[in-house]
Amino acid sequence: MTTYTFPEGFLWGAAASGIQTEGTTNKAHPSIWDTWHENNPERFFKEIGPAKVSQTYERFQEDVALMKKIGMNSFRTSIQWSRLIKDFETGEACPDAVTFYLAYIDEMIANGITPMINLYHFDMPAELQDQYGGFESKHVIKLFEKFARTAFKHFGHKVKHWITFNEPIVPVEGGYLYDFHYPCKKDGKLAVQVAFNTMVAHAKAVLAYHDMKLDGEIGVVLNLTPSYTRNGSDADQEAAWYADLLFNRSFLDPMVKNTIPEELCQILRDNDIMPAFSTAEIDEIKSAEVDFLGVNYYVPRRVKAREAEYTLDYFTPEKYFENYINPQGRFNPFRDNNEILPTAVYDIAKNIQDNYGNIKWYLAEIGIAMDLESEGPVQHDGMIDDSFRTELMTEHFIQLHRAIEDGANCFGIHQWTFIDNWSWLNSFKRRYGFYRLDLETGNRIPKRHSTWFKELATTNQFTV
Ligand code: FCB
Repeated sequence: MTTYTFPEGFLWGAAASGIQTEGTTNKAHPSIWDTWHENNPERFFKEIGPAKVSQTYERFQEDVALMKKIGMNSFRTSIQWSRLIKDFETGEACPDAVTFYLAYIDEMIANGITPMINLYHFDMPAELQDQYGGFESKHVIKLFEKFARTAFKHFGHKVKHWITFNEPIVPVEGGYLYDFHYPCKKDGKLAVQVAFNTMVAHAKAVLAYHDMKLDGEIGVVLNLTPSYTRNGSDADQEAAWYADLLFNRSFLDPMVKNTIPEELCQILRDNDIMPAFSTAEIDEIKSAEVDFLGVNYYVPRRVKAREAEYTLDYFTPEKYFENYINPQGRFNPFRDNNEILPTAVYDIAKNIQDNYGNIKWYLAEIGIAMDLESEGPVQHDGMIDDSFRTELMTEHFIQLHRAIEDGANCFGIHQWTFIDNWSWLNSFKRRYGFYRLDLETGNRIPKRHSTWFKELATTNQFTV
C-alpha cells in the first residue's frame, strides 16, 4: 500500500461554468448558445439547450451545501457576460445579476469554499456576435475589457482568484474551423484573427485587474496536451512539433511567457493568414503577466506525419499533421472511445516546469465521462456506483503526485464537474459530476466517487 500526500493548502474542488449551470431565469441578454439552440435545436443532443439546466440561479444555496458536504475547499464557475452586463457598450451592470453573483459568492465564502471566477467560458453575448462578429471585431475586445472591469469592481473585494478565459482556443476551433460552436464558420484566416483578438482581450483584462490594484490573483485556463507520435520517426516528430506549436504554444507562449513564437508567425505568413494587429496590442500581450495558470486535461493528442494530401480549401492546423489512433491505447468506452493516458498529466507538469518558468498552476479540469447507462441506477444506499471514475482518477492523481515530487509547482485539482451539467452540443449525453442531475426532478443524487473524493480532500492524501 502506498499513501500519496499532497502539499499543504492544496485546492480540492470542482469546475463548472455559468452558462452550463445557471439556467436563463432573469437573464439580461441571450448568449450565442441561447439563440443558437433556439434557432437550431436539432444540433443539440436530444434538443436540450441551456435554458433550464441545473437551475443554479434558484438553487445555489442548496448546491454550496452539497459542495461542503463532499469536502470541497474551492470551486470555479464563470460570470456570464450576457447576464452581468445590462449595457454592453458602457459596461453597466444589471443590478439583479450583481445581487445574484454576490449572494452566490458570499454563500461559498461563508461555507469555506474559495471561489475562483472565470470571465469567459465560450459564451459570447448573441448581440455582440450578430452586430460585430464577436471576437472577430476589435470593438468587442474593448467591450470585454469593460465587462471585466465591471466584474472586478463588483466582486473583486471578495473574489481573490480570477480567470480571464477558459480554453480560449476552443471557440476558435469550434466557431471558425470545425463547426461545433456558433457561428459555425470554416475560415482559417478569421480563426487566427479571433485567436489573436482573444489574446488581446485576455491581456487587457489582466492589465485592467493589475491597474485596479485589487488584492488577488489573475490567470487563464488552457487545455493542454502533449502531442504523442505514432513511431517517433523524424517525420512524426516534426508533425508533433507543429501540433504542439499550433495547439499549445499558440496560447501558452503569449499568455504565460508573454512572447509570440516566431515559428508561429512564419506559418501565418506562409499561409497568408496573418491577423490585423497594432504594435500597441503586441505590447499589451507582452506586458500582461498572469499570476497563475490553470490546465484542463482529458485526452492525449496523437499525431503522425501527413500521409494523405491536405484537400481543404482553408487553413486548419491539420495541414501539418494527421491525427492518429494508437492501436495499443486504452480507451474510455463511455466517451466516444477517447484514449485514457494518465502519464500525460506528468508530461504536462514537466513541460510547465521545464519550459514555462515553473509558473504556479493547478489542474483546473480533469474528469471521466460516463453516461447514465454506464453509471447505472441509484443503489440501495441512495448512491450511484461510478467506481470506474474513481479508478481512473486515482491513476491520474498518482501521476500528478509524482510530478509534484519532481518539483512541479501545482497547487490544486478541480474535477470536472460538481453536478452533471449541460455540455454544449452534447447537452447531457456525457455525465461527469460528483452528483447526478435528475433531469425530470432537478434532484442531485450523490455518486460514490464523491465519498472517495471527500476523504482525499479532507485528509489531503489517499492510499492505494
Ligand atoms: C471542457 C470544457 C467544459 C466541459 C468539459 C467536458 O473542454 O471546458 O466546459 O464541457 O470539456
